Amino acid sequence: MSIQLKAINCYYGTHQALFDITLNCSAGEKLVLLGPSGAGKSSLLRVLNLLEMPRSGQLQIAGNQFDFMRVPSEKSIRELRQNVGMVFQQYNLWPHLTVVQNLIEAPCHVLGLTKAKAMERADKLLQRLRLTDFADRFPLHLSGGQQQRVAIARALMMEPQVLLFDEPTAALDPEITAQIVSIIQELADTGITQVIVTHEVGVARKTASHMVYMENGRVVEQGDNSHFTQPQTTEFANYLSH
Ligand SMILES: Nc1ncnc2c1ncn2[C@@H]1O[C@H](COP(=O)(O)OP(=O)(O)OP(=O)(O)O)[C@@H](O)[C@H]1O
Ligand SMILES: [Mg+2]
Repeated sequence: MSIQLKAINCYYGTHQALFDITLNCSAGEKLVLLGPSGAGKSSLLRVLNLLEMPRSGQLQIAGNQFDFMRVPSEKSIRELRQNVGMVFQQYNLWPHLTVVQNLIEAPCHVLGLTKAKAMERADKLLQRLRLTDFADRFPLHLSGGQQQRVAIARALMMEPQVLLFDEPTAALDPEITAQIVSIIQELADTGITQVIVTHEVGVARKTASHMVYMENGRVVEQGDNSHFTQPQTTEFANYLSH
Protein backbone atom coordinates (compact mmCIF):
# COMPACT_ATOMS: atom_id res chain seq x y z
CA MET A 1 0.00 0.00 0.00
CA SER A 2 1.56 3.28 -1.07
CA ILE A 3 -0.84 5.56 0.84
CA GLN A 4 -3.03 4.71 3.82
CA LEU A 5 -5.02 7.20 5.88
CA LYS A 6 -6.97 6.24 8.98
CA ALA A 7 -9.46 8.55 10.67
CA ILE A 8 -7.62 11.75 9.80
CA ASN A 9 -9.07 14.92 11.39
CA CYS A 10 -7.62 18.28 10.50
CA TYR A 11 -8.41 21.77 11.78
CA TYR A 12 -7.59 25.38 10.94
CA GLY A 13 -7.87 26.87 14.41
CA THR A 14 -11.34 25.85 15.55
CA HIS A 15 -12.60 25.20 11.99
CA GLN A 16 -12.56 21.51 11.15
CA ALA A 17 -11.57 21.03 7.49
CA LEU A 18 -11.25 17.21 7.37
CA PHE A 19 -13.45 14.69 9.18
CA ASP A 20 -12.39 11.09 9.78
CA ILE A 21 -10.75 10.59 6.40
CA THR A 22 -9.92 6.95 5.73
CA LEU A 23 -8.54 5.81 2.40
CA ASN A 24 -6.13 3.37 0.81
CA CYS A 25 -4.23 3.67 -2.42
CA SER A 26 -1.85 1.13 -3.97
CA ALA A 27 1.51 1.96 -5.49
CA GLY A 28 1.30 3.17 -9.08
CA GLU A 29 -2.29 4.45 -8.80
CA LYS A 30 -3.54 7.76 -10.13
CA LEU A 31 -5.74 8.89 -7.27
CA VAL A 32 -7.99 11.81 -8.18
CA LEU A 33 -9.57 13.99 -5.48
CA LEU A 34 -12.76 15.71 -6.60
CA GLY A 35 -15.36 17.89 -5.01
CA PRO A 36 -16.83 21.37 -4.85
CA SER A 37 -14.86 24.40 -3.69
CA GLY A 38 -14.14 24.21 0.03
CA ALA A 39 -14.63 20.41 0.17
CA GLY A 40 -11.16 19.94 1.63
CA LYS A 41 -9.29 18.60 -1.43
CA SER A 42 -6.24 20.84 -1.06
CA SER A 43 -6.23 20.31 2.70
CA LEU A 44 -6.17 16.55 2.21
CA LEU A 45 -3.44 16.80 -0.42
CA ARG A 46 -1.35 18.98 1.91
CA VAL A 47 -1.78 16.47 4.74
CA LEU A 48 -0.04 13.90 2.51
CA ASN A 49 3.26 15.76 2.81
CA LEU A 50 2.43 17.32 6.19
CA LEU A 51 2.13 20.89 4.97
CA GLU A 52 -1.00 20.62 7.16
CA MET A 53 -0.68 18.73 10.43
CA PRO A 54 -3.72 16.60 11.35
CA ARG A 55 -4.89 16.67 14.95
CA SER A 56 -5.60 12.94 15.01
CA GLY A 57 -5.43 9.82 12.88
CA GLN A 58 -2.72 7.86 11.15
CA LEU A 59 -0.89 8.31 7.87
CA GLN A 60 1.29 5.84 6.02
CA ILE A 61 2.87 7.07 2.83
CA ALA A 62 5.84 5.89 0.76
CA GLY A 63 7.21 3.86 3.67
CA ASN A 64 6.84 6.68 6.23
CA GLN A 65 4.44 6.27 9.16
CA PHE A 66 2.83 8.81 11.46
CA ASP A 67 0.37 8.63 14.32
CA PHE A 68 -0.78 12.16 15.08
CA MET A 69 -1.24 11.33 18.77
CA ARG A 70 2.38 12.50 18.83
CA VAL A 71 3.87 15.48 17.03
CA PRO A 72 6.15 14.17 14.26
CA SER A 73 9.85 15.02 14.49
CA GLU A 74 11.40 17.49 12.04
CA LYS A 75 13.61 14.68 10.79
CA SER A 76 10.66 12.39 9.98
CA ILE A 77 8.92 15.24 8.15
CA ARG A 78 12.06 15.90 6.08
CA GLU A 79 12.29 12.20 5.19
CA LEU A 80 8.64 12.16 4.17
CA ARG A 81 9.10 15.17 1.88
CA GLN A 82 12.00 13.49 0.10
CA ASN A 83 9.67 10.63 -0.84
CA VAL A 84 6.57 12.72 -1.52
CA GLY A 85 6.90 15.52 -4.08
CA MET A 86 4.42 18.34 -4.66
CA VAL A 87 3.58 20.30 -7.80
CA PHE A 88 1.98 23.55 -6.65
CA GLN A 89 -0.80 25.31 -8.48
CA GLN A 90 1.22 28.50 -8.91
CA TYR A 91 4.25 26.40 -9.97
CA ASN A 92 6.49 28.17 -7.36
CA LEU A 93 9.49 28.20 -9.70
CA TRP A 94 12.44 30.39 -8.70
CA PRO A 95 12.24 33.38 -11.06
CA HIS A 96 15.96 34.22 -10.80
CA LEU A 97 17.06 30.72 -11.87
CA THR A 98 16.91 29.21 -15.35
CA VAL A 99 14.89 26.07 -15.98
CA VAL A 100 17.87 23.77 -15.54
CA GLN A 101 19.04 25.65 -12.43
CA ASN A 102 15.53 25.29 -10.98
CA LEU A 103 15.84 21.55 -11.55
CA ILE A 104 19.26 20.92 -10.02
CA GLU A 105 18.98 23.26 -7.00
CA ALA A 106 17.28 20.91 -4.51
CA PRO A 107 18.96 17.65 -5.59
CA CYS A 108 22.39 19.29 -5.13
CA HIS A 109 21.56 20.99 -1.81
CA VAL A 110 19.14 18.54 -0.21
CA LEU A 111 20.24 15.17 -1.61
CA GLY A 112 23.91 16.17 -1.96
CA LEU A 113 24.12 15.08 -5.60
CA THR A 114 27.15 16.31 -7.56
CA LYS A 115 26.35 18.92 -10.18
CA ALA A 116 27.31 16.45 -12.94
CA LYS A 117 24.96 13.78 -11.59
CA ALA A 118 22.14 16.30 -11.16
CA MET A 119 22.66 17.60 -14.70
CA GLU A 120 22.44 14.05 -16.03
CA ARG A 121 19.11 13.57 -14.23
CA ALA A 122 17.88 16.99 -15.42
CA ASP A 123 18.73 16.24 -19.07
CA LYS A 124 16.67 13.05 -19.00
CA LEU A 125 13.68 14.77 -17.43
CA LEU A 126 13.85 17.76 -19.76
CA GLN A 127 13.72 15.32 -22.64
CA ARG A 128 10.87 13.32 -21.15
CA LEU A 129 8.83 16.48 -20.57
CA ARG A 130 9.79 17.94 -23.97
CA LEU A 131 11.57 20.91 -22.40
CA THR A 132 15.10 20.51 -23.72
CA ASP A 133 14.82 23.65 -25.87
CA PHE A 134 13.91 25.73 -22.81
CA ALA A 135 16.67 24.57 -20.45
CA ASP A 136 18.39 27.96 -20.28
CA ARG A 137 15.30 30.19 -20.17
CA PHE A 138 13.96 31.93 -17.12
CA PRO A 139 10.48 30.86 -15.94
CA LEU A 140 8.89 34.23 -16.77
CA HIS A 141 9.83 33.68 -20.41
CA LEU A 142 7.79 30.49 -20.60
CA SER A 143 4.08 29.85 -21.18
CA GLY A 144 1.89 28.56 -18.37
CA GLY A 145 1.93 25.03 -19.76
CA GLN A 146 5.72 25.07 -20.08
CA GLN A 147 6.08 26.35 -16.52
CA GLN A 148 3.77 23.59 -15.33
CA ARG A 149 6.00 20.99 -17.04
CA VAL A 150 9.09 22.54 -15.45
CA ALA A 151 7.39 22.31 -12.04
CA ILE A 152 6.67 18.62 -12.68
CA ALA A 153 10.27 17.99 -13.84
CA ARG A 154 11.60 19.77 -10.77
CA ALA A 155 9.52 17.59 -8.44
CA LEU A 156 10.65 14.44 -10.31
CA MET A 157 14.32 15.38 -9.83
CA MET A 158 14.00 14.13 -6.23
CA GLU A 159 12.79 10.74 -7.54
CA PRO A 160 9.78 10.71 -5.20
CA GLN A 161 7.62 7.61 -4.73
CA VAL A 162 4.51 9.78 -4.59
CA LEU A 163 3.78 12.95 -6.53
CA LEU A 164 1.02 15.36 -5.46
CA PHE A 165 -0.66 17.79 -7.89
CA ASP A 166 -3.02 20.60 -6.87
CA GLU A 167 -5.17 21.62 -9.84
CA PRO A 168 -2.43 20.85 -12.41
CA THR A 169 -4.56 21.97 -15.36
CA ALA A 170 -6.21 25.06 -13.87
CA ALA A 171 -5.65 28.06 -16.12
CA LEU A 172 -4.37 25.93 -19.01
CA ASP A 173 -6.05 25.74 -22.40
CA PRO A 174 -7.51 22.40 -23.63
CA GLU A 175 -4.49 21.43 -25.73
CA ILE A 176 -2.02 22.02 -22.89
CA THR A 177 -4.40 20.30 -20.48
CA ALA A 178 -4.31 17.25 -22.78
CA GLN A 179 -0.47 17.33 -22.66
CA ILE A 180 -0.48 17.36 -18.85
CA VAL A 181 -2.98 14.48 -18.82
CA SER A 182 -0.73 12.44 -21.09
CA ILE A 183 2.32 13.25 -18.93
CA ILE A 184 0.41 11.92 -15.90
CA GLN A 185 -0.34 8.73 -17.90
CA GLU A 186 3.32 8.32 -18.88
CA LEU A 187 4.49 8.84 -15.30
CA ALA A 188 2.09 6.15 -14.09
CA ASP A 189 3.97 3.67 -16.30
CA THR A 190 7.12 4.36 -14.25
CA GLY A 191 5.37 3.07 -11.11
CA ILE A 192 5.13 6.40 -9.28
CA THR A 193 1.93 6.99 -7.28
CA GLN A 194 0.16 10.23 -8.20
CA VAL A 195 -2.51 12.14 -6.31
CA ILE A 196 -4.29 14.76 -8.37
CA VAL A 197 -6.72 17.40 -7.12
CA THR A 198 -8.98 18.73 -9.84
CA HIS A 199 -12.44 20.15 -10.27
CA GLU A 200 -12.39 19.36 -14.00
CA VAL A 201 -14.48 16.23 -14.43
CA GLY A 202 -13.03 15.57 -17.90
CA VAL A 203 -9.47 15.54 -16.54
CA ALA A 204 -10.54 13.33 -13.63
CA ARG A 205 -12.31 10.85 -15.89
CA LYS A 206 -9.29 10.53 -18.16
CA THR A 207 -6.63 10.22 -15.45
CA ALA A 208 -8.17 8.49 -12.45
CA SER A 209 -7.44 4.85 -11.68
CA HIS A 210 -8.99 5.57 -8.29
CA MET A 211 -11.31 8.43 -7.30
CA VAL A 212 -12.30 10.09 -4.05
CA TYR A 213 -15.25 12.47 -4.04
CA MET A 214 -15.43 14.88 -1.09
CA GLU A 215 -17.95 17.34 0.30
CA ASN A 216 -17.69 19.45 3.46
CA GLY A 217 -14.48 17.79 4.62
CA ARG A 218 -15.82 14.26 4.29
CA VAL A 219 -15.30 11.46 1.78
CA VAL A 220 -18.68 10.85 0.14
CA GLU A 221 -17.70 8.25 -2.44
CA GLN A 222 -14.55 6.43 -3.50
CA GLY A 223 -13.65 3.65 -5.88
CA ASP A 224 -12.23 2.86 -9.30
CA ASN A 225 -12.79 4.63 -12.61
CA SER A 226 -16.16 2.87 -13.14
CA HIS A 227 -17.70 5.31 -10.62
CA PHE A 228 -17.60 7.99 -13.31
CA THR A 229 -20.10 6.01 -15.37
CA GLN A 230 -21.89 4.41 -12.39
CA PRO A 231 -21.85 6.83 -9.46
CA GLN A 232 -22.99 5.23 -6.20
CA THR A 233 -24.25 8.33 -4.38
CA THR A 234 -26.68 11.05 -5.41
CA GLU A 235 -24.06 13.64 -4.38
CA PHE A 236 -21.45 12.37 -6.84
CA ALA A 237 -24.08 11.81 -9.55
CA ASN A 238 -25.16 15.44 -9.12
CA TYR A 239 -21.58 16.65 -9.26
CA LEU A 240 -20.99 14.77 -12.51
CA SER A 241 -24.15 16.14 -14.05
CA HIS A 242 -23.13 19.79 -14.03
N1 LIG B 1 -5.17 28.30 5.76
C1 LIG B 1 -6.46 28.19 6.09
N2 LIG B 1 -6.95 28.78 7.20
C2 LIG B 1 -8.24 28.65 7.56
N3 LIG B 1 -9.14 27.93 6.86
C3 LIG B 1 -8.71 27.30 5.76
C4 LIG B 1 -7.37 27.41 5.30
N4 LIG B 1 -7.25 26.69 4.16
C5 LIG B 1 -8.46 26.17 3.91
N5 LIG B 1 -9.36 26.54 4.87
C6 LIG B 1 -10.78 26.14 4.94
O1 LIG B 1 -10.84 24.72 4.95
C7 LIG B 1 -11.87 24.24 4.10
C8 LIG B 1 -11.30 23.34 3.02
O2 LIG B 1 -10.47 24.14 2.17
P1 LIG B 1 -9.63 23.52 0.97
O3 LIG B 1 -8.73 24.59 0.50
O4 LIG B 1 -9.01 22.24 1.41
O5 LIG B 1 -10.79 23.22 -0.08
P2 LIG B 1 -10.69 22.79 -1.61
O6 LIG B 1 -11.59 21.60 -1.77
O7 LIG B 1 -9.28 22.62 -2.02
O8 LIG B 1 -11.38 24.02 -2.34
P3 LIG B 1 -11.02 24.72 -3.79
O9 LIG B 1 -11.64 23.84 -4.83
O10 LIG B 1 -11.70 26.04 -3.70
O11 LIG B 1 -9.54 24.81 -3.89
C9 LIG B 1 -12.59 25.49 3.58
O12 LIG B 1 -13.70 25.72 4.39
C10 LIG B 1 -11.56 26.57 3.70
O13 LIG B 1 -12.16 27.82 3.90
MG1 LIG C 1 -8.04 23.66 -3.40
